[in-house]
Amino acid sequence: MKIIINGIEAEVPAGVTVAAALAHAGHGATRRSLSGQPRQAFCGMGVCQECRVRIDGQPERLACMSLAVEGMLVETLA
Ligand code: FES
Repeated sequence: MKIIINGIEAEVPAGVTVAAALAHAGHGATRRSLSGQPRQAFCGMGVCQECRVRIDGQPERLACMSLAVEGMLVETLA
């Protein structure tokens, strides 16, 4: 299955979350803290909010709680 991460097509396994797809594609960070440090998915269950990304134009979506689907556009803030 293919999704677009920061404008680049990535092949990811079907049935995974966006957080898993990002990790599979080698994207370690999802956003940056106010001090500029890279942040990434931590809890994997919708609690820590560290995995927020833009999905299909919608900001602040939790990557760990969103299933990746074919053609999805994912933008990290890292
Ligand atoms: S990894 Fe913690 S909310 Fe998504």
